Amino acid sequence: MSEPRHALRHPQKPAHIPVDRPTEGIRPEETPLYEARKIVKRYGSFVALNNMDFHIGRNEVVGLLGDNGAGKSTLVRMISGINPPTSGEVFINGKKTDIRTRAESEASGIETIYQDIALVDSMSITRNIFMGREITGRFGFMDHRKMEEVTIDILGSAVQISGIDDPRKEVGFLSGGQKQAVAIARAVHFKRNILLLDEPTSALSVRETEHLLGYVRDLKKEGTSSVLVTHNLYHAFMVCDRFVVMSHGAKVFEARKEDTTIEEVTDHVIRT
Ligand SMILES: Nc1ncnc2c1ncn2[C@@H]1O[C@H](COP(=O)(O)OP(=O)(O)OP(=O)(O)O)[C@@H](O)[C@H]1O
Ligand SMILES: [Mg+2]
Repeated sequence: MSEPRHALRHPQKPAHIPVDRPTEGIRPEETPLYEARKIVKRYGSFVALNNMDFHIGRNEVVGLLGDNGAGKSTLVRMISGINPPTSGEVFINGKKTDIRTRAESEASGIETIYQDIALVDSMSITRNIFMGREITGRFGFMDHRKMEEVTIDILGSAVQISGIDDPRKEVGFLSGGQKQAVAIARAVHFKRNILLLDEPTSALSVRETEHLLGYVRDLKKEGTSSVLVTHNLYHAFMVCDRFVVMSHGAKVFEARKEDTTIEEVTDHVIRT
């Protein structure tokens, strides 16, 4: 597989494949859990999101795809409130909402796993998982025992992390994949309506990845929709119901899984 896939499948085609134009894509059929309309995000004169429409349906996993720098993380950060849009509208359950902070997205039921995970190296796994949402006892003191019990539980069930047995271990001593798994365990434990995963598997082992993808599917059955950002189209095809391909801050392709193939989606990703 050293040659590009399109070259193998279309030997007659010229080497130059035209770049996709922005498309409106699929309009939601019913009121979605989340909908963003005509989102523009500027960094000075640079347009990172250009009139982007994006929605997340009920019981749905959306694959957000595209080349490096396409704007995927910018969109995820916009949805999660840490990077509000320059202009555009956001609707939660059909109601116009202004999400401009992390706290506001949390209040709307959105949980995020960022590409560059935000864990505190000098704190234990348990403290990292419960950061900002500590369990307290009757007098307002932190209930460390309870939090450690829950941590052992979620580390064992949610994401089986290789080689983590002590919830008191400092996160700074973990490998990249183990850290990512702690972040995933945290998001899974505080699961809400919407889980945003920005390249969550990039540092995970094969077994951890299988586990995570299985978890995204399980969460869907329980009513949590997800957005999965990934460069791995096989992973995307394993769990996603719909695909959105971005290029230069715009949507260039969108299709439901039943209406497309991995070849077609790959084609749009590499074209852009
Ligand atoms: N804070 C910022 N200031 C200026 N430009 C930015 C900022 N954040 C992102 N960009 C630019 O916006 C564009 C989109 O970046 P983004 O991180 O959303 O891409 P991505 O699709 O997530 O790519 P990757 O697959 O590599 O993670 C890039 O050209 C990037 O340089
Ligand atoms: Mg990114």
